[in-house]
Amino acid sequence: MNKPTIYITRSIPAKLLKPYQEHFTFICWEKEETPVPREVLIKDAKHADGLICMLTEEIDDAFLDNVQRLQVIANLAVGYDNIDIHASKARNIIITNTPDVLTETTADLGFGLLMATARRLLEANDFIKQGKWQHWAPYLLAGTDVYNKTIGIVGMGRIGKAIARRAKGFSMNILYHNRSRDEIAEEKLGVTYLGLNELLSEADFVVSVVPLTDETRNMFDADAFSMMKHSAIFINISRGGVVDETALIQALKEEQIAAAGLDVFSKEPLPKNHPLLQMRNVVALPHIGSASVETRTNMWNLCLENVTRVLSGKRPRTPVE
Ligand code: DGY
Repeated sequence: MNKPTIYITRSIPAKLLKPYQEHFTFICWEKEETPVPREVLIKDAKHADGLICMLTEEIDDAFLDNVQRLQVIANLAVGYDNIDIHASKARNIIITNTPDVLTETTADLGFGLLMATARRLLEANDFIKQGKWQHWAPYLLAGTDVYNKTIGIVGMGRIGKAIARRAKGFSMNILYHNRSRDEIAEEKLGVTYLGLNELLSEADFVVSVVPLTDETRNMFDADAFSMMKHSAIFINISRGGVVDETALIQALKEEQIAAAGLDVFSKEPLPKNHPLLQMRNVVALPHIGSASVETRTNMWNLCLENVTRVLSGKRPRTPVE
């Protein structure tokens, strides 16, 4: 009997495939850094039974119309805005993502980005490496405090809660906004629910952890930035699409807000000359929220487990429902 075929859209450490190779055939796009071109993906995934893809692949009607045997798509990310869930379900294709395994790693990055932006760590690093450090001075590269301040977390899911746990360690006043109130989190983490506008006007740090959906697209727009304090720092570790970037650039330029720490952008990768990269008060990272070696390995393993379970007639561990 033919083994089911699994197409993987990026190079994967060979040792991770070993446990599955007896029962499955793997075809991989062999590049680590470059996404598979759309036309290659369409051709190569045509006869696959399972697919492991990245957030760089758009799984839309046109792609789904072309596949002939696909039963399951495992996205190597917790966010799945690159996949048309409705169109996949209409074709009985199961979608899985990678929740839980990346929660703490992504929260570490989010809180690190907040600290780096508040305390101007990257500017300081550039300053010293460029040989500019001539004297010690009282306000040299002085930033703003994090401890005892108010953090407003927008999106109280797994990663939002993990950010709250970190904020607790810094004695922060923790506000959150979410589609629905989470009374258990309020009790356990001492977080306070507020409407979005109140949160925006009270927080010293506004942290976006919301998934990108039709409801959240551009939710941080000119109105939202105009509600924030002039001293506010905006952090985004969710998806660039939740921010109206033109409005953000304007808000930073006009000092409506003080600074931004951004791991995600509406169009990735960001070109070198993008206005956000020219601003002193922006700390920008190339979408590395869950990028630790341990976590990326766990994400691969979860994808492999999900796909092979479905192709063996079992329920996946982490379906998108
Ligand atoms: C996710 O999991 O959605 C991240 O953005 C990928 O690192």
